[in-house]
Amino acid sequence: MAITRGDTTVSDPALQPIEEERFESALRPKSLSDFVGQENLKKNLSVILGASKKRSEPAPHLLFYGPPGLGKTTLAGIVATEMGGNLKISSGPVIEKAGDLAALLSNLEEGDVLFIDEIHRLRKPVEEILYSAMEDFTLDLIVGKGPGARSMRLQLPIFTLVAATTRLGNLSSPLRDRFGENFRLDFYEPDHLSAIVHSNAEKLEVQITDRARELVSRCSRGTPRVANRLLRRLRDFAHVDQKNDISSSLAEKSLEQMGVDHLGLTDGDRFFLTTLAEKFSGGPVGLSTLAAATSEEKETIEDIREPFLMQLGFLVRTPKGRVLTPTAFEHLGLPVEEKKDSLF
Ligand SMILES: Nc1ncnc2c1ncn2[C@@H]1O[C@H](COP(=O)(O)OP(=O)(O)O)[C@@H](O)[C@H]1O
Ligand SMILES: [Mg+2]
Repeated sequence: MAITRGDTTVSDPALQPIEEERFESALRPKSLSDFVGQENLKKNLSVILGASKKRSEPAPHLLFYGPPGLGKTTLAGIVATEMGGNLKISSGPVIEKAGDLAALLSNLEEGDVLFIDEIHRLRKPVEEILYSAMEDFTLDLIVGKGPGARSMRLQLPIFTLVAATTRLGNLSSPLRDRFGENFRLDFYEPDHLSAIVHSNAEKLEVQITDRARELVSRCSRGTPRVANRLLRRLRDFAHVDQKNDISSSLAEKSLEQMGVDHLGLTDGDRFFLTTLAEKFSGGPVGLSTLAAATSEEKETIEDIREPFLMQLGFLVRTPKGRVLTPTAFEHLGLPVEEKKDSLF
């Protein structure tokens, strides 16, 4: 979403423009030891991969879930590298027909890692093909049409399916049950984000002071993707000033210009919160109504805005709808709404 302030248009640093993908892949850690934070996940994953390697077997099917930008795609690449297999990438919405998935699967080689991003968006007939492929490494095909049609069973090479989703709840249980392990990714601590900014500043060949690095990590919504994006934007601000280093004053000034506050909230987040506060007296309000009032996609609200606002304790999801907490009212500088049937 682009927000217009005065005569300048700034993109919301919480949302991802497509052209950033190339930049992002250049910064992706390639090994588990370069992957910062998520200590529990790393420990468990490294045992699973280590044991599979010892037995000279492909890794079991793995599912990574959590909000966008926390490292799911990065981990899929790391699994392939650590296991020495090829990485084949696809995603739920791209695999339209059962035949598309059958083609993908029958082209796999022993030990390949097939990564399916946004697996919750797979259509049912496609998903059903996955069941036997994941469980017995077989593919059931119907050859021909009408009365002459017959079914054929194809043996697939042993491969590893790595899948990612922002919505574990949308996965059917037969699909979920077929993964050897599920891993949840959590928002990152500022220290971990700071380490990520440190190593990425080196990769981007830009100097950043400790204080500026701390500012960036605090404003990154617990999300490495946002940290990388802010670092890149600050580098642009520095270059415009004919500098190759990011000082704390440059960081402060630039973050303000981008509309990012000390908690990492963007103009888009504040608009979302004030709409909820002022138009709906803090809720409860349903997602569709909120989406219409803020002109945002429901998915953007659910996947990007809300997880972080809930983590901050600004928002709760109740059966009746979204409700703003007193903390959020205080942050916005608005009087707390008194409600008869208050939840708080
Ligand atoms: N643990 C981490 N350590 C270092 N960089 C990370 C880490 N997690 C994510 N990143 C960075 O954040 C960016 C977004 O990560 P990505 O794997 O694409 O997230 P997701 O697939 O969960 O949306 C990547 O380019 C990568 O550079
Ligand atoms: Mg991803």
